[in-house]
Amino acid sequence: MRNESPTPSPDQDEDDFLCSVREGLRSRPKTIPPKYFYDAHGSHLFDLICETPEYYPTRTETAILERHGAEMAGMIGSRCTMIELGSGSATKTPLLLKYLTDDAVYIPVDICEPYLVKSTQRLQTMFPALKMQPLCADYHHLPALAIKRHAGQRQAVFFPGSTIGNCTPNEAVTLLKNVARLVGPGGGLLIGVDAKKSAEVLNAAYNDAAGHTAAFNRNLLTRMQRELGAQLEADQFTHHAYYNETHGRIEMHLVSRCKQAIRVGRESFKFDQGESIHTENSYKYSADEFRRLARSAGWHLQSTWRDAHALFNVHYLSLSAAEPLKLAR
Ligand code: AVI
Repeated sequence: MRNESPTPSPDQDEDDFLCSVREGLRSRPKTIPPKYFYDAHGSHLFDLICETPEYYPTRTETAILERHGAEMAGMIGSRCTMIELGSGSATKTPLLLKYLTDDAVYIPVDICEPYLVKSTQRLQTMFPALKMQPLCADYHHLPALAIKRHAGQRQAVFFPGSTIGNCTPNEAVTLLKNVARLVGPGGGLLIGVDAKKSAEVLNAAYNDAAGHTAAFNRNLLTRMQRELGAQLEADQFTHHAYYNETHGRIEMHLVSRCKQAIRVGRESFKFDQGESIHTENSYKYSADEFRRLARSAGWHLQSTWRDAHALFNVHYLSLSAAEPLKLAR
């Protein structure tokens, strides 16, 4: 395998988790950022969610990529450096990699090292001649990512799965600006974005009958117990997910079943019965809303592909080659 080794920093991760949990539980309403869902167990649970009949985004986006992958790769350019943010198990990636030439470079970036290693090995077996450089990192810290530029190649980011929806719109603009800085003038972005639709379909997708989404949400609590020695009873919290139409987002919460206190380190956090920890937002955008959001971050929409039921959009955006980048830190 021609991969360079990923660069994990477990102590740093643990410190970040502790700081984020403390800060989030001190705030009102209480929150914990969704990026902490994705330890090895959480990543596995997310894979199970993706296979449930209710969670349509994965199979819908996959079908769009299967149908239009050649055209997408044609727009990006087959001899490119493709950086995949939050690559996870990278199940959709082969649908694009198969159209890249052997001198292209693929750089998967993921926070979960076991997943990154396993998925890169699988992809390298499928595409032995393609150069792969996995990077174990948090893509929320994009400005700090050390990604080597390959001369003469377009840099393009692949960001599937509607993961951008887990940012607030302001955070999404900042992320899109940082992606623009990463890829530079002439760069591209192929991004999957979940569309607005009926509350019924959305609520079902985040409350699957098998209970995988509930387990995924509550894994945050067991992760706190395991990694931070938090003193709490995970079954004293219930999973609650619903579509907030006003904000155009699914909200996920862990709701306290009773009046209780949990301990993290030396600090105690009190909960009233029914009080929640807000663990995730999943924003949904119409194609036009997303085009405007991306435009405010300097991107030009080139093409949009969608499924027959308009459940999900995949957009290709580009930066003009000459435009100087005025980008946020
Ligand atoms: C990763 N992300 C786009 C998923 C979503 O749909 O917002 C995470 C998820 N949360 C619950 N189910 C899936």
